[in-house]
Amino acid sequence: VAAQFQFHDNVLHAEQVPLTALAERFGTPLYVYSRRALRDAWQAYADAVRDRDVVVCFGMKANSNLAVLNEFKNLGSGFDIVSGGELARALAIGADPAKIVFSGVGKQEWEMRAALQAGIKCFNVESEAELERLAEVAAQMGTIARVSLRVNPDVDAHTHPYISTGLKENKFGIAIEEAPKVYQRAQQLNSLKIVGVDCHIGSQLTEVSPYLDALEKLINLIDQLADLGITIEHLDLGGGIGIRYVDETPLTPTQLLDAVFERLNARGYGKLQIVLEPGRSLVGNAGVLLTTVEFLKHNEAKNFAVVDAAMNDLLRPTLYEAWHSVEQVVKPASDTPVRQYDVVGPICESGDWLARDRQLALRQGDLLAIMSAGAYAFTMSSQYNTRPRPAEVMVDGTDIHLVRPRETLESLFSSELTLP
Ligand code: LLP
Repeated sequence: VAAQFQFHDNVLHAEQVPLTALAERFGTPLYVYSRRALRDAWQAYADAVRDRDVVVCFGMKANSNLAVLNEFKNLGSGFDIVSGGELARALAIGADPAKIVFSGVGKQEWEMRAALQAGIKCFNVESEAELERLAEVAAQMGTIARVSLRVNPDVDAHTHPYISTGLKENKFGIAIEEAPKVYQRAQQLNSLKIVGVDCHIGSQLTEVSPYLDALEKLINLIDQLADLGITIEHLDLGGGIGIRYVDETPLTPTQLLDAVFERLNARGYGKLQIVLEPGRSLVGNAGVLLTTVEFLKHNEAKNFAVVDAAMNDLLRPTLYEAWHSVEQVVKPASDTPVRQYDVVGPICESGDWLARDRQLALRQGDLLAIMSAGAYAFTMSSQYNTRPRPAEVMVDGTDIHLVRPRETLESLFSSELTLP
């Protein structure tokens, strides 16, 4: 169980608040976040940074609720955005554009314009075509775009293939061998200013070695660029630090930054600014998804707990066969039979499951907490089956803040039009 989600008197709490009280007040399915957990996760980065020149840009695709963004902004975070929509969220909470980096393989012109208008720190450019488009858009606006090239260092991050992004066969980035040529092209474009080198090798990483493999190649590239008269201000190592879903022991921000600076110092780049784009490690274990058991169903092969949350609320199990721990919010009475259950949602798809083969002692009406649901959970939700998305609540000690109400049924189709 995550640090800010603990049992007291046999009831699972978020900080000081029993999850039963939240389910009663707001209904289920319900996302519950812990403000303390956000702060603690941020502090782990702050402790790792110390007095070194590091800009931490929260990868907000992991959780873009404004309350979460605002909390991180107040703690000093910048933001890694991947769309005009995410830029709008960042600006809505008054984020400092000088700490916004813009990643993504398919930036549209309007998104480039909006980001240039805002005056962001850096575009992480992923192809030559994007470089040309960005130069054009900036020139039209009479401004200068600050750019890094996202290079693909071709290292194996040892993680799930869907979230491993640093290998040659991925759609991301520019092959590292091609990079000097593309940097030289960037240098010819007056509306661009080269400021950095960028990579992101994958997500849910548990070891430091893939980062160091990538770093080694990036430093070699920076040396090569220097020979071409191109100097950079920062090196962006992306996100990727994993969290504990089951029994993983992921690397810590301190382990990462100590190792990175040791290597940088050894190569004479100890003063280079480092940018990080952590997503999951800042929010993953700061949230749970509360859900109620609607029915228990037993057939010859299986026991099913049909719950009121589904793949539209939490897609990770369906999409990645991701394992999320399931806690019974109220510890079961000893006479409730323990069975092996699949925890499934009400959606009309066999893939609609949240957990499989779990030993649980369930009764109809029981409340379950799907753990580690702070990252890539609500942000990947949909309204499939015309299901309103859950409410989101932030707990702060004994305080309870509704940070997004449950969607109303009407809002799901009120903008649609029938034919005349
Ligand atoms: N920077 C870039 C360019 C990224 O593509 C990502 C995540 C991050 C930073 C943040 O990575 P993190 O620190 O969270 O590992 N939906 C998947 C994860 C997709 C990650 C996509 N990119 C999941 O639920 O596991």
